[in-house]
Amino acid sequence: MDPQIIEKVVQEMADFTPEMGEIEGVALLKGICDVWDSVYNFQARDGDIVVATYPKSGTTWMQEILDLVVHDADVEKSLRAPAFIKVPFLDMGHTSLELANSMPSPRVLKTHMPIHLVPPSFWKKDVKFVYVARNPKDCMVSYYYFYKMDQTLADPGTWDNFFSMFMAGNVTWGNWFDHVLGWWKAKDKHKILYMFYEDMIEDPQREIQKVITFLGKDFSEDMVQKILQHTSFKSMKNNSMANFTVLPESVFDQSATTFMRKGTVGDWKNHFHDSQNIIFDEEYKKKMEGSDLVFRTEF
Ligand code: A3P
Repeated sequence: MDPQIIEKVVQEMADFTPEMGEIEGVALLKGICDVWDSVYNFQARDGDIVVATYPKSGTTWMQEILDLVVHDADVEKSLRAPAFIKVPFLDMGHTSLELANSMPSPRVLKTHMPIHLVPPSFWKKDVKFVYVARNPKDCMVSYYYFYKMDQTLADPGTWDNFFSMFMAGNVTWGNWFDHVLGWWKAKDKHKILYMFYEDMIEDPQREIQKVITFLGKDFSEDMVQKILQHTSFKSMKNNSMANFTVLPESVFDQSATTFMRKGTVGDWKNHFHDSQNIIFDEEYKKKMEGSDLVFRTEF
């Protein structure tokens, strides 16, 4: 892998500032709004595979799984570059788009966009999407720590402050409810495999097998075990290609909290006050009414 391209992508990340903007009612970093035209006009190809998520839902985990499935469980190959290089993050703009354009097919690409902001060329090509959703309470907690870690985002202040920001959809990539519901409604109209973080924690082998089948592959037990081991929380936490430690502290400051933080279901119970839980549950009931999309917040 050309080290210059890694430097360029890292520089692109470092250049983002905390200022916020908006595209079609979705809160996004102003830096993303500034490159919006090139993101929206990105040209998909037949055979592209896209991991789509609301932030902090298991994106990096799925990136590693997809990269291994595409490359027939070749663990050595998966160590060729950091996750953000192997799987270009389309939303970031120019360098990531250039990187995507330079890759041979089949490409694995990443987006955090709500479905209505996905570049339209994706709907005209034969593309497979893997959407990973995570229960909103754990997602919110994970996002809070991420906001503290990512130096290009605004300081989230206290947990109480971040709770209000998240509930108002005033965080990058907008409102969690709109995101998960939008992709859920579209899942039967396109090639979308809708996955849940909690299912992946509960039975990673079963969920990896779903991905293998979705991508039309048929692997031996040994290959599945290799993917399972390489994408465990422990392996990824110790893998510099997956844990973002290649990023300088000026981008991700992992001194107080690491990217591979806890990787569990139910950590929200250590953060939500009783009153916040009531407010959240009321909002959840309102927003999810009429939908058959169900989340598990504990086992
Ligand atoms: P926590 O902050 O709750 O630990 P994303 O990649 O979308 O930013 O999501 C990051 C979240 O996924 C973090 O959650 C991280 O620890 C968790 N994660 C990443 N890899 C994982 C794995 N292999 N197993 C379980 N959780 C994982």
